Amino acid sequence: MILDQVTATAFAPATIANVAVGFDLLGFPIEGVGDEVTVSRSAGPGVEITKIEGINQNITLEADKNTATVGLIQLLKDVNADFGFSVSIKKGIPMSSGMGGSASSAVAAIVAANALLDHPLPKEKLFHYAMLGEMVASGGLHGDNIAPALFGGLTLCRSISPPDLISIPVPSRIQCILIHPDLEVSTKESRGKLKKEISLSDHVRQSAAMGGFIAGCFKDDLDLIQRSFKDVIIEPQRSSQIPGFIEAKKTALGLGAIGCAISGSGPSVFAWADTAERAEMIREAMIQEFKIKGLKCESWISPISTQGARLSS
Ligand code: HSE
Repeated sequence: MILDQVTATAFAPATIANVAVGFDLLGFPIEGVGDEVTVSRSAGPGVEITKIEGINQNITLEADKNTATVGLIQLLKDVNADFGFSVSIKKGIPMSSGMGGSASSAVAAIVAANALLDHPLPKEKLFHYAMLGEMVASGGLHGDNIAPALFGGLTLCRSISPPDLISIPVPSRIQCILIHPDLEVSTKESRGKLKKEISLSDHVRQSAAMGGFIAGCFKDDLDLIQRSFKDVIIEPQRSSQIPGFIEAKKTALGLGAIGCAISGSGPSVFAWADTAERAEMIREAMIQEFKIKGLKCESWISPISTQGARLSS
């Protein structure tokens, strides 16, 4: 197949990584917020970023340092392309928000670029290229934002190299509340501060939580998901970076949330609820807790989206 298409635009959603129980292993996308990247074939070799617009203007235009374009440089090499790419990025996800912004840009860019190849690769092959961008952003190899942003749905990264990505069913009535307090947390720095060793007893407790959570998802058992919705390893190390998190979590659980945790490395936090009405109540109450700490919030309510990145034109 030889394509004559010269420009493609793709959207990739924001994602919530870790999902309390599965640090670096689990993530899911939400609806209503994400990044959009437009890629054009250019005559010259290499990759050039022509424009970054949207809510974050403070991002590098250097293609070998930008999370959206690092994978494209490698893709061009691997397919021996006799053309280049020019790239325009529209950020919808706030910077350093814990909403998977770098993954969203990397995924949207690779999906758009792939559509312009003479012989586009299957979607499964794009994971590797998007991961190159994520590595630049977070300084570690974790696929828990990239995989759900690319494929949609709650996704378990059993292995990232070679990729073994498993789609986990989620009870369809679950609504996710995502709150973004007006703060920035660098994922790279946050990861750098984590302890490198954990105790055997914490390992056992966390494994029980992960196993129970996944089993609850497969069994459509909200009580089991609720009992398992725990992070005894990472959350205690990160919660002090987010003023209001402990109070917001207590309030959400008091109002019947299935669970509440930090989204990725924060500062965003999320909760799961069993109905849209409860989700709305929880959202308002959590926002109040951050307001008491002097923090304004953006917020979203969404089902656990099954839609990953898609071409928009
Ligand atoms: N698993 C990663 C972390 C996600 O928590 O550091 C970052 O978005």
